[in-house]
Amino acid sequence: MTNIPKTLGNSTLQVGRIGLGCMGMSEFYGGTRDEADHIKTLHTAIDLGINHFDTADIYGNGHNEELVAKAFSDRWDKVTVATKFGVRRGADGEWLGLCGRPGYVKEACEKSLKRLGVETIDLYYQHRPDPDVPVEESVGAMKELVEEGKVRFIGVSEFSTEQIRAAHAVHPITALQTEYSLWTRHVEEGILEACRNLGIAFVAYSPLGRGFLAGAIPNREALDENDWRRDNPRFSDEALAENTRFVELIRDIATQKGATAAQVALAWVLAQGEDIFMIPGTRRIERLKENLGAWKVQFTAEELAEIRSRLPQETAGSRY
Ligand SMILES: NC(=O)c1ccc[n+]([C@@H]2O[C@H](COP(=O)([O-])OP(=O)(O)OC[C@H]3O[C@@H](n4cnc5c(N)ncnc54)[C@H](OP(=O)(O)O)[C@@H]3O)[C@@H](O)[C@H]2O)c1
Repeated sequence: MTNIPKTLGNSTLQVGRIGLGCMGMSEFYGGTRDEADHIKTLHTAIDLGINHFDTADIYGNGHNEELVAKAFSDRWDKVTVATKFGVRRGADGEWLGLCGRPGYVKEACEKSLKRLGVETIDLYYQHRPDPDVPVEESVGAMKELVEEGKVRFIGVSEFSTEQIRAAHAVHPITALQTEYSLWTRHVEEGILEACRNLGIAFVAYSPLGRGFLAGAIPNREALDENDWRRDNPRFSDEALAENTRFVELIRDIATQKGATAAQVALAWVLAQGEDIFMIPGTRRIERLKENLGAWKVQFTAEELAEIRSRLPQETAGSRY
């Protein structure tokens, strides 16, 4: 099995089920950032068969979209890029809250188009629903963007089943992007089913549990001073100590399969359904290759049932 392109939900986009999340190339996770190096990673991803890339206007407060634009300016025909709006930031990166007002949707889209240097965004997500604006109004504005030729397909992120249905009634939703991995399985309680019923692709973000499930983060000290995860409840020392049970299980399976922990974590998500796509993030070429190796890890129905029976029921620490 390889990363053969597949139709994304109800769209005409053909994308590999393993895409690449670009967020860490601009912000949130520690380690060094080197633009030339990241562009090399993005180009190598295409060479390795990845054609779907995920960014957002808030990643690096615009920087991530600009980086993607630099990398793909001479190869837009080989990629599908998704970006997002809906979380406002100020000029210095300060967080200004959620916004789904129609006027803002239009404004944010113009800015993303400019940063990306394209006339049309392949897949445009509302990053989060705005509790003060009915989703019908926000998606109504997105529908107009489609009619104006500025957006090809519409996605939503972290919407509830009710919000997905309400949005889909205004304009067909192509993809729902939400966190899904061995330690984050809440979407199994209705959300995956709703997507299936409506023909909406499910795009799993943070499928490696923000790196934790790959086994590379034993404690909080392993994270750089400026790493966003240091303040995330799941990455407190207490939570990490408790959540190590996930890594132990994954390592055990990895040994049986002759694979790495990251490959097992990703293969498990792939095994949850042909209609599930994912966008693991990495800045490093060697990890990109390793992550694509998830395709080599296959599970029988019995093995999947056994993994499920051994998984801890609870994950320590909230997601945000
Ligand atoms: N819609 C939303 O609200 C939302 C929220 C979060 C993320 N996202 C999107 O989803 C994408 C992926 O999520 P994510 O980056 O949060 O989490 P992730 O894909 O679960 O994990 C990424 C982290 O794992 C590390 N990593 C990657 N491959 C590895 C490997 N083989 N071994 C060990 N460590 C590895 C990366 O570090 P290196 O870079 O150093 O390799 C990075 O720190 C993001 O890039 C973003 O586009 C969307």
